[in-house]
This record gives sequence, C-alpha cells and structure tokens, in this order.
Amino acid sequence: MEYFVKSGHSSKQRAACVIVGIFSRRKPSASANEIDTASAGVISSVMRRGDMDGDIGQTLMLHALPNIFADRVLLVGCGRERDFDETAFRKANAAAARALQATGSIDAVSFLTEIEVKGRDPQWKIKQALLTTTDRFYRFDRCKGDSAVPKTIKLERLTFNVERRSDLPAGEAGLREGLAISQGVAFAKDLGNLPGNICTPTYLADQARELGRRNSKVRVKILEQAEMEKLGMGALLSVSKGSRQPPKFIIMEYQGGKKEDKPVVLVGKGLTFDAGGISIKPAAKMDEMKYDMCGGASTLAALQVVADLDLPINVVGVVPASENLPDGAANKPGDIVKSMAGITIEVLNTDAEGRLILCDALTYVERNYDPEVVIDMATLTGACVVALGPHASGLFSNTSALARKLLAAGDEIGDRAWELPLWEDYQDMLRSPFADVANVGGRDAGAITAACFLHRFTRKMRWAHLDIAGSAWISGGMNKGSTGRPVPLLAQFLLNHAARHGND
Ligand code: BES
Ligand code: MN
Ligand code: ZN
Repeated sequence: MEYFVKSGHSSKQRAACVIVGIFSRRKPSASANEIDTASAGVISSVMRRGDMDGDIGQTLMLHALPNIFADRVLLVGCGRERDFDETAFRKANAAAARALQATGSIDAVSFLTEIEVKGRDPQWKIKQALLTTTDRFYRFDRCKGDSAVPKTIKLERLTFNVERRSDLPAGEAGLREGLAISQGVAFAKDLGNLPGNICTPTYLADQARELGRRNSKVRVKILEQAEMEKLGMGALLSVSKGSRQPPKFIIMEYQGGKKEDKPVVLVGKGLTFDAGGISIKPAAKMDEMKYDMCGGASTLAALQVVADLDLPINVVGVVPASENLPDGAANKPGDIVKSMAGITIEVLNTDAEGRLILCDALTYVERNYDPEVVIDMATLTGACVVALGPHASGLFSNTSALARKLLAAGDEIGDRAWELPLWEDYQDMLRSPFADVANVGGRDAGAITAACFLHRFTRKMRWAHLDIAGSAWISGGMNKGSTGRPVPLLAQFLLNHAARHGND
C-alpha cells in the first residue's frame, strides 16, 4: 500500500473511489458539494431519499455518477459541522477506511482531510488520517494455515487531499511522520500478537538485533544470563528461574544527536508470557498474558520510528525479557531476592513479576547512562485496567514537567494517558517484616503501589512510568489484538523533544 498527499478537485479525480464528507442534517462538505453540482444533484437526491443523514461514522457508496470520472463516490458521515473535532475527524477517517476495505477499489482519494478541524493544521490532519487508516487496515494472519481465506485489501494507493497547494509541504511532513509511526505501531502489534511459543525472550532479542542491522545509527547489545548474574540482577533472574527460556537483557542505542547529548531512555517490560508463576493465574483469558511484553515491543518500535525519522537526538531502549512460569525452580511466595541496587525484596506474590524485572533494568540504566529522562512502559497491573479501562494509559512521574510533556504528546496524537499519584503516603503499603520492601502492597491502589515500588529504584532520575495494562491490547473475542500503544505517544514525545533539543 502506498500513500500520497495531493491538492486537487473532488469532481475531477480519475480514481476507483473518491471519499467526501457529509455533515449532520444532510449538509454536504465543500468537496461533496462540488461533486453534487458536477453530477447534477445526485448526492442531494440520495440524501433526500433518506439514505445518508451525515451522522458520524455513517457511510454510503455511490456508483457511476454522471460527469464524474471516479468509479465510486464514498459519502462519509461527519456529524455536526461545528462539533467536528479531533475525535470526529478520527471516527470519520476510520469509517472511510472500513468502507473502502470492503470494496474492490484499487486506488482512492480522500477529501476528508480537507475538512477544517479547529486548532489543527494540515500536518496534523494527514498524520492522523494515516494513523487511523493504517490502524484499520492492519491484519495479523501470519499464524493462519495456507487454506485460510486471505482477507487481503485490494487497495494499493490512497491519496489524502489538502485544500491548498501551499498546504502540500505540511501535508508531506505529516505523511512522513505518520508513515514512520504507523510502521512502528504495526511492528509493535505484530510482536504483541505473536504467541508466547514463538515470541520468546530470544525472539525479542533477535528482533532487536535485526533492527540494529537495518539501521546504522542503532547499536544493539544483548546481555546473557551470565552477564546479568555478574551485574547482580537478582530480581530479574529470580523471575526467569522458573522458565526454560533463557532471559535476555536487550540494549538498543540510537545516536542521532551529538555524542554528549543526554539520551532519552526507554525501558519496556518484555515478559513474553506471564502465567503468574507459583502464584498462578486463573485459566480464563490467561492466553492474553502473551501480551505482557507489549512495553518491550513498544520500546523496539519507538527506536525504529526514531531511526526511520532520523531524529537528531539520542535515545536508548532497554528491554528486560523473560517468561514467568510455575516450576520447581521458580520463585516461591516468601522468597527474598536481592536486586542490582542492593535493595532486598520479599516476593509475596510471584505474579507481581513485572516490577522485579523492571527494577533491575532501571538500576542498570541509572548506572550506565546519564539520562535526560527515563520512561518505562509496562503492562504492570490489572488494577490499572480497573481504574482507567482501555482508553488511557496510567501515568506516574516524579517530575511534573515530564508528566506534562507526556500527557500533551498523548493528547496531540490521540494515544492518551492520565496521571495518577505517586505520593509517598502509599510507600508504607509495601513494607516487609523481613526485607527492605515487599513486591506487593495489597488489593487497594494496586497500580499506584506498583509505581511506588519502581520509584524506589528511580529516585535519582527524572522518570515516568506508563502502566499500559489496559491500553496495549483489546481483550477477548474476535476483536482481540494488540493496539500498538503507546508507540504513538512515545513517537510524538520524541518528535517534540527533537524539536526542542535537536541540533539540526
Ligand atoms: N501482567 C500482569 C498485569 C496484568 C493483568 C495486565 C491483567 C493486564 C491484565 C502482572 O504481571 C500481574 O500479574 N500483576 C498482578 C499484580 C498483583 C499480584 C499485585 C495483578 O495485577 O494482578
Ligand atoms: Mn504477573
Ligand atoms: Zn506480568
């Protein structure tokens, strides 16, 4: 599939499909009006018959309009014109993609990107249109057998139209950013959707090495178990003890800035399957714990995006990768392990393993880099799903300026986070009679106590934690699948960071 930006007239497109918006109460957008006039009122008469009112997300395909070169005209409901905001823009573009997918069109030109969205420029609109469209077009069927009917999309070329020729450079910039981000999102989705027997810690490490081979500015290093032992990563290693798959500690360094520029460091939970260990999880939906590496996947993907966009900054990605399974050698409730930081941890629940692998990764980062900021991503707690559901990632930070930037990046690109407190008051819930800290803090405030646990290892750094347990995948049914979040949020944050700090 190829994407383009162009500035032209809706009535003059020689394409298999032209896409135009209709507002509520049968009000045509400018480009719909132009087709209506050229075709002597076909759109008006269709609307009079009551087949298209312009409600948000509604679609209607028209064929063979008189005096129109395009084979089809797709009408897309945009809702009330004065309510046409970011959400409506995304919904209309998603609806268009869904309708387009169901046709035999080989190429299409969308005029939805011409419609005014308050406060948003053509660059934003093209980028968003691309992200929503590619999100719809994504398929994961590489694990289906040869006899499975391939749900291929016939579309080969999709062009987004901008109103003025002077909007073209901005549109092109949006296209470039949107393409890189959507490829990152697809990469993260693929890694997430792959089953645990394929996507093991070794597989993740191989994918990182591949990424390094593809990009000359990305250096990849994998620490093996023996090296982790030497470094004293007792918390991480205690989790992998119960698994037959060797743990991997993935390090990716992207240097796009000056050597002395402090890096943005990303740390992602790469738990390739979480059965809970001896504190084993119930059977229902346990398959979804293959998604417990989505933080790690988004770290690989974010580095890919940064490299593809050639951003003039330094970024480091670190992914502690392991499985969490029950076994004779596995962690047992009550076991006390020593982290790389020297802090001892009483493992009261072996299912709270994410924080165990992350704490050593965070200490590694503190000792080996001088980060500008550190951001970790983890499918860390069921409690975060209860608190925020699928819409927002949970955000925690010890630096309010960093939290603000992450929230703003998420708002801008439509991959939102919501801040929860990291107050010291919660630290008491993690006290242990036998060790420096317990790995669980009881039922209440589970997402917060998990973040507070991590904070004990990040006090010396400007740090933020994203709990993506609710946002990283869609749960249950035939809709099940990775969302690729928070790759867009991270990408936007890094783009903004490059715009502020980049040196070219
Ligand atoms: N990976 C899970 C968190 C999770 C659970 C994400 C369900 C999405 C859906 C994590 O390792 C875990 O098991 N957390 C426990 C922590 C508890 C034992 C304190 C949880 O949330 O139940
Ligand atoms: Mn767990
Ligand atoms: Zn987990």
